[in-house]
Amino acid sequence: MATVSLKNVDKSFGNVHVIKGASVDIADQEFVALVGPSGCGKSTLLRTIAGLEEVTGGEIEIGGRVVNNVSPSDRQVAMVFQSYALYPHMTVRENMSFGLEVTGHPKAEIAPKVDRAAGILRLEELMDRKPKQLSGGQRQRVAIGRAIVRDPGVFLFDEPLSNLDAELRVQMRVELALLHQELSATMIYVTHDQIEAMTLADKIVVLHGGVIEQVGAPMELYDRPANDFVAGFIGSPKMNMFAADVAAQAGWLSNEASSAVKFGVRPEHMVRAGHGLAGQVFHVEHLGGQTLTHLKLASGHEFVLSEPGAGGDAAGDTVHLRPAEGCLHAFDANGLAVR
Ligand SMILES: Nc1ncnc2c1ncn2[C@@H]1O[C@H](COP(=O)(O)OP(=O)(O)OP(=O)(O)O)[C@@H](O)[C@H]1O
Ligand SMILES: [Mg+2]
Repeated sequence: MATVSLKNVDKSFGNVHVIKGASVDIADQEFVALVGPSGCGKSTLLRTIAGLEEVTGGEIEIGGRVVNNVSPSDRQVAMVFQSYALYPHMTVRENMSFGLEVTGHPKAEIAPKVDRAAGILRLEELMDRKPKQLSGGQRQRVAIGRAIVRDPGVFLFDEPLSNLDAELRVQMRVELALLHQELSATMIYVTHDQIEAMTLADKIVVLHGGVIEQVGAPMELYDRPANDFVAGFIGSPKMNMFAADVAAQAGWLSNEASSAVKFGVRPEHMVRAGHGLAGQVFHVEHLGGQTLTHLKLASGHEFVLSEPGAGGDAAGDTVHLRPAEGCLHAFDANGLAVR
């Protein structure tokens, strides 16, 4: 059972406090996406789970066992790095075998493991090539293959697809989803990519400045963000934010008193209305199946409307909008969601 539990994990580098009291429980075979802005501590948190960094405080449990003092090779985890980190002078087969050879596994045991991983990742035809004779996607598959042969309970991925072009990313995304089903392993996956996080993850962990802001299923974070940070971070294009007086003047609010100081509406949840918030179009982006209309309030405050199809607005047009039923998010002075 490869569960992973972080209990109040702290990590400092000297006087730089990078991870601040992170607690999260990850179930066996769960696929968890770890997301957050650059520098928020995603790689650091992953490396503490791998044992490549020592924690400054708190506990890490893998499979119910505290591993704070367990060496990386004895943690039942395998990490796949963004840079692949393949040995250039070794063939694909040698790259995949090497880790098991140095840990003393007998050759007769290694070969079938490597062949199985090669089969899963469709690398059979490439086993005698060197990394420089492979495409980016093929190299990434070798890096994943090297993790698979170790038969870990937990896979740790640090932005494994970020060096690939858009088309290959989409293809590898699907392959990773299938791989997760096939291997029945726990996976913790760091990504910048919203779509990867939303589509692959059973659970998303949002990290911000070393603090876990929210943990939840993708649609839970999308529908019920706990605070304005998560609201703005999950979803693309970003949620539009409006001051309370703007929302009130637009007639969006009912009369009951509320502690809300600002309101959010996702671009795809703004609908056209006979009256309501008046925005002036200043730019239109046609994406083919979808149109993004960029608007400004009289105050200069900008927001975006996302609609299916090829919208017919032109710069200078005025559009009246309201939030779709049940799609207005309210936040208090501390940024916490008000429901
Ligand atoms: N060895 C180190 N010594 C000192 N500071 C470090 C060290 N490693 C990371 N940091 C700092 O810790 C913070 C978090 O870094 P980390 O690499 O975990 O961020 P990240 O979320 O993975 O960012 P990115 O999305 O850019 O990869 C950064 O401010 C970084 O400068
Ligand atoms: Mg990183």
